[in-house]
Amino acid sequence: MLTLTPETLSSFTIFHKPLPKSPNPNPKPSNSPHIPRFNPPIYANCYQPTYQSERGLQFETEDTFFRHESATGRDLGVLSAALYKQSKQHLRVLDAMCGCGIRSLRYLAEAEADFVMANDGNDSHRRVILNNLKKIDRGSGDEKRWVVTHFDANRVLSECYLKREFFDLIDIDSFGSDSSFLRTVFNAVKRDGLLYLTSTDGYSSGGHRPNNSLAAYGAYIRPMPYSNEIGLRMLIGGAVREASAQGYHVAPLFSYYSYHGPVFRVMLRVHRKPLPDSRHYGFISYCEQCGNSQAYCWEELGQISCSCSNSIGPSSPVVSGPLWTGPLHDATHITAMLNLAEQWGWVGDGAGTDLEKLLKRMIDESNPRLPFGYIKLDEMASRAKMNSPSLKTMMSAIQKEGYAVSRSHIASNAIKTNCPMKECVRIAKELMVH
Ligand SMILES: C[S@@+](CC[C@H](N)C(=O)[O-])C[C@H]1O[C@@H](n2cnc3c(N)ncnc32)[C@H](O)[C@@H]1O
Ligand SMILES: [Zn+2]
Repeated sequence: MLTLTPETLSSFTIFHKPLPKSPNPNPKPSNSPHIPRFNPPIYANCYQPTYQSERGLQFETEDTFFRHESATGRDLGVLSAALYKQSKQHLRVLDAMCGCGIRSLRYLAEAEADFVMANDGNDSHRRVILNNLKKIDRGSGDEKRWVVTHFDANRVLSECYLKREFFDLIDIDSFGSDSSFLRTVFNAVKRDGLLYLTSTDGYSSGGHRPNNSLAAYGAYIRPMPYSNEIGLRMLIGGAVREASAQGYHVAPLFSYYSYHGPVFRVMLRVHRKPLPDSRHYGFISYCEQCGNSQAYCWEELGQISCSCSNSIGPSSPVVSGPLWTGPLHDATHITAMLNLAEQWGWVGDGAGTDLEKLLKRMIDESNPRLPFGYIKLDEMASRAKMNSPSLKTMMSAIQKEGYAVSRSHIASNAIKTNCPMKECVRIAKELMVH
């Protein structure tokens, strides 16, 4: 097999279009002790990196795009990668937009990847990435464990396809609504491999730019109360669509929303499947009149209405789609992630770390009786024209009535439940009386 190296790749033009400028969340203060990158050589010897630390690994970030808040997203990626390596005994990773290279370092050091290609379109990050990765013995020839390249991600993905070099895990930590890699990524991922995708397009998921979401993910998104879950479903749906055009099927192992950014991340498993499967790829409606939501498959497109329209006048639900309407997580995989995190001492010290809470909440959310979306207690309280009972009280009352209920990892004061809004309002009112 031919090996992709900076040398083999350098025969190609670097970019067909300029890279978006990184919205660096960590601009250096004007009195920064760092020496600016392009200073005359006389200053070169004075360069003194400041180190960051994550899960005990030290690295520098200098002027690259780096957020501490994304550490949980990196933890989740590494746990999935490590489980993959344990089950398949091999792990080749493409970190297509690596920034300072922290993910590449973690995939190598923690998930024990056999090989990582750390790519970032911005070649001024090279020195930082190399410095961060040099802690891992680079190896040579077929035993080479990592390379650093600077190409447009789509070019790298297409090049991998041409050279028939496939990856077990492709991590694309992009920003904005750039979804162009959805067209090329399936060329470079192995069968049964993993794709870790990102979107930071909160405007589209909020329904404020339906034409943008249509262009990027093929979904017309309207404003809905659980827009941050819609953001995840829009991203998965976009991948489902592109996958099926190329004879693949994808399903999420986990879906993670983080309000820093906001950032929508999904880890998808890729299967070969000749026939498209539209079971979990459809439309979602929300009725502003009664607060109910419903999923519709393609065959039901002409029948979208809400059952409340007979009792309280006509209603015309808001509809978004097509998007992913299936489960956000694979509970078995998340349970394995939690066990591994315990084994590594990342959770389970009794302190209830954020990672532990998150994984446990994702397991709760995976209850197959729970539908998509969530009910914000504020919306319920305003429909009931009263103050909301506490989340805990409300959840146990709903459960007593035989409905399924859990918290949502996406919104803190919200519940996921198969109890219709009207019933939630009734239960809340009854709680106030007693
Ligand atoms: C969100 S940052 C990556 C952060 C990093 N993965 C981490 O966890 O700290 C996105 C990076 O992608 C690079 N980038 C943006 N567009 C790209 C493209 N089309 N091809 C390759 N790299 C790109 C930027 O230079 C930037 O460093
Ligand atoms: Zn209704």
